[in-house]
Amino acid sequence: MNKQLGIRFSKINNKEILEQRLELLKLSGIKDFFVDRTETPDKGEILKKFALEYKDCKRCGLYETRNHFVYGEGNPDAVIMFIGEGPGEQEDKQGHPFVGAAGKLFNKMLNAISLKRNEIYITNVVKCRPPNNRNPLSEEISSCIPYLYEQISIIKPKIICALGKVAGNSLLNNDNTLGSMRDRFYHFQDAKLMVTYHPSALLYHLEWKRPAWEDLKMLMIEYRKL
Ligand code: URA
Repeated sequence: MNKQLGIRFSKINNKEILEQRLELLKLSGIKDFFVDRTETPDKGEILKKFALEYKDCKRCGLYETRNHFVYGEGNPDAVIMFIGEGPGEQEDKQGHPFVGAAGKLFNKMLNAISLKRNEIYITNVVKCRPPNNRNPLSEEISSCIPYLYEQISIIKPKIICALGKVAGNSLLNNDNTLGSMRDRFYHFQDAKLMVTYHPSALLYHLEWKRPAWEDLKMLMIEYRKL
């Protein structure tokens, strides 16, 4: 009987591990291998394609003053996704999220829970800088948020961490205070969502660093459960 057994190795990008697996299969009697070209599309490629496609977006007035449409970046297979408010001056100049002063503090926060930038995905509610770093207007948020929903549906994170009140309000569709949104998980699509302080706020309010640390510990405990 000519039986076909399909085993996907799409997640293996280490040559030695792949060779070991193939050797084991040969030992168990399987001799014919073929490359299946009907692979599911690579999430990184999809995100790259969309970032290019949207870079000249004019859905709201922010395009008039922006230098860059800052789509987001990080690991497309990330289990944790962080969502900020919108690009600041440095982010707008460089085209990358969280690279200015708030980004430096954000990196330290990640470091404190043993995570690296290349393990997570990070983006913002609005992709273009509001002039003088003002809060994004509700019409700017509603024009831009479909990009964020699309990113979430591609990446499929298990945990989403909203950084600050604007991100929390936008994702939870409420107008609550930051204090009342933090310290718990919400269901968001297939992910657990939590809200914590924005790193920019922590630069000015040192007294919020302790509760922010409690939030990060809660995030880490949830991450370790996965
Ligand atoms: N603040 C944000 O909310 N996002 C950035 O990318 C930078 C600062």
